[in-house]
Amino acid sequence: MSKLFNHCIGLRFLTKESVVSILDEAKKIKSGDVIVDLKNQSVVHVFFEPSTRTRLSFEMATQRCHAFPMMLDVETSSLTKGESLVDMMRNIESLGARAVVVRHSNGGIPYFISQQLAIPVINAGDGYHEHPSQGLLDLFTLQERLGDLSGKHILILGDIMHSRVAKSNIWGLLSMGAKVSVAGPPNLVPDCVKKWGVDVCFNLDDCLPNVDAVNVLRIQFERQHGIALPSIREYREQFGLTQQRQELLSDHAIVLHPGPINRGVELDSDVADGKKNVILDQVSNGVFVRMAILSLLMDGAS
Ligand code: CP
Repeated sequence: MSKLFNHCIGLRFLTKESVVSILDEAKKIKSGDVIVDLKNQSVVHVFFEPSTRTRLSFEMATQRCHAFPMMLDVETSSLTKGESLVDMMRNIESLGARAVVVRHSNGGIPYFISQQLAIPVINAGDGYHEHPSQGLLDLFTLQERLGDLSGKHILILGDIMHSRVAKSNIWGLLSMGAKVSVAGPPNLVPDCVKKWGVDVCFNLDDCLPNVDAVNVLRIQFERQHGIALPSIREYREQFGLTQQRQELLSDHAIVLHPGPINRGVELDSDVADGKKNVILDQVSNGVFVRMAILSLLMDGAS
């Protein structure tokens, strides 16, 4: 059977059929209906940016697929001796890797690598661009809690401009037929979202009672590059999901956060640890979703 997709670069580039196939495969893996056996093939993980969840989740997913995870330490790699990224990736392929997982601070690097290699390339987050496995695990968790996402209203709250998670959520949710709104400081909400079919919510307190879920993002302090931000106190007052604001949500609504959380800034501890949050479910589901991505991309590879 031919594969639906050859790389996992972004949800913008995956058809609805591909997204549904990954979510269905993840569901079968989670329920134990499918056992993935990738027969000890090597998967190389190359992270140019810090990570806790994504890195460990991909390593666990690789192990649970009966494949062999190898983590390249970029700081001690031969990149430090002047080797180019393309040469390094071609060498990793020649060594026998059967897939590469890449996180990079520059948007477009995983796509660029995918054009150079014959093996699957999986984007583990690139700059402001996309974080497709996070977007997929968010869809999976939303579906698990809310059922069919068609017509459901999901609010993405925070630093939309610098968030690759926001972009992957937007593309994935739109392809599943959800209604998507965003809210955040006006200078951190790019105008282009309106062209994508996303509503911009100007009054958070008016918007919260009407949504089925709110996905709260952290302010990406490391990516601000001089963009004026209100103080932390003002940010929390205007856009933080406080306990008081959480009470505006309807009974069935849930709260997501991709992590890491800046407690007391975008999310109060009462909410982060409260009954509506599904944050640790997202983390657990991430392993199944990443197993599904590896399984669909590598199954049948020699
Ligand atoms: N959600 C996420 O990407 O977390 P990490 O940066 O810890 O991988």
